[in-house]
Amino acid sequence: MSKLWGGRFTKETNKLVEEFTASISFDQKLAKEDIAGSLAHVQMLGECGIIPKDDAETIKHGLLKIREKVNRNEVEFLVEDEDIHMNIEKLLIEQIGPVGGKLHTGRSRNDQVATDMHLYLRTKTTELIKLVEDVQQSIIKQAKENIETLIPGYTHLQRAQPVSFAHHLMAYFWMFERDKERLIDSLKRINWLPLGSGALAGTTFPINREKVAELLGFQTIYPNSMDAVSDRDFILEFLSIGSIIMTHISRLSEEMVLWSSQEFQFIELDDSFCTGSSIMPQKKNPDVPELLRGKTGRAYGNLIGLLTVLKGLPLAYNKDLQEDKEGMFDTAETLEGSLKLLAPMIETMTVNKDVMRKAINNDFSNATDIADYLVRKGLPFREAHEVIGKIVLYSIQSNKYLLDLSMEEYKQFSDLFEDDIYEVLAPEHVVAVRNSFGGTSPEQVKLQIKLAEGKLTK
Ligand code: ARG
Repeated sequence: MSKLWGGRFTKETNKLVEEFTASISFDQKLAKEDIAGSLAHVQMLGECGIIPKDDAETIKHGLLKIREKVNRNEVEFLVEDEDIHMNIEKLLIEQIGPVGGKLHTGRSRNDQVATDMHLYLRTKTTELIKLVEDVQQSIIKQAKENIETLIPGYTHLQRAQPVSFAHHLMAYFWMFERDKERLIDSLKRINWLPLGSGALAGTTFPINREKVAELLGFQTIYPNSMDAVSDRDFILEFLSIGSIIMTHISRLSEEMVLWSSQEFQFIELDDSFCTGSSIMPQKKNPDVPELLRGKTGRAYGNLIGLLTVLKGLPLAYNKDLQEDKEGMFDTAETLEGSLKLLAPMIETMTVNKDVMRKAINNDFSNATDIADYLVRKGLPFREAHEVIGKIVLYSIQSNKYLLDLSMEEYKQFSDLFEDDIYEVLAPEHVVAVRNSFGGTSPEQVKLQIKLAEGKLTK
């Protein structure tokens, strides 16, 4: 059989053109969605009397057969047939004869492909929401084990104030919570139905779009046919959300790379998540978090790629839009693979509580607390800041930390110091008194974890 659109042409398509314009090598991923859309469309055509009911039945059975074959990987898709839509239509006509040609009544590939993409993203988004939640679960698990574990908190990657390790980890829980919200919210727009818009202007047939929407589970129907076939902002939104998720994954991964380095030694990644070096026998490399960090690049690339494709594109359908697919598939698959690895990696890491603790004993991250101490005794904060600055300098010069200084030494800097200063400076105390809502005290962290658990659906 020649091309489905061959009538107007006097020459065969140039082979290079055929290869260049074909999308079947990648859009075969939409086979299931394409068949689902066709099933709904043909049922509607039959019910509306646009084609005879018997024909609709025949087409339906043909499509179901093709679906089985696709599921069993028995279908050979052909570049000559350009894309998934024409491949399946051709297969249908081969299977049930010319009546298969009635399927495309009142429809265009333009509203068809847009519908397939919506269906695909709906499935993927729903799966990803679950995977994000798996990561959140693993964060909660680690956090619960580490409410009392103290770690230096950093600003500018310089020790700032000690925090609960659970608090640090839970910061990521909330990033992923917002990511989850974004994915859920995007479903509202993914659930707009393009089908029934024709090539760009609607159709002359008395179709019933509500029926198709109901059959395919769409909540809204695009009210403008030109918008429906040109819109790819639902994909841009997915790629943006995907980029944000990858940013969060990348930041956490970077921390895991740092923490597992010999310089930090705060955590050890499970052997099953690391790889060795082909030359240096001592190495245990954090390849997984490194690669998660690296894969963020392709997620950004896919977003920028589609933004660029859409910029300045006139209405309605243009072949440029075929470029919307590979990036979307790639981001969906990248997210899926990344989230699936991140959850068990967090869960199986060993937390070196002693090393973290030692780090805190050997720094000045309790300095703010002596400043606050003097303020509570009546000194203006700026003056207190100055005094403590001097104490820190003195300590560095005499190779001591704040808890090592004697009362005599403290008194040289201010009369306001008393014995209770040693209690105030103890790291546990420093953390416990940051008890404002959202703070790092064990009490607040426990409350935070409770709130977090309330956000999970299972
Ligand atoms: N393969 C095409 C795409 O992905 C399907 C739509 C083709 N429509 C057209 N008028 N050429 O965009």
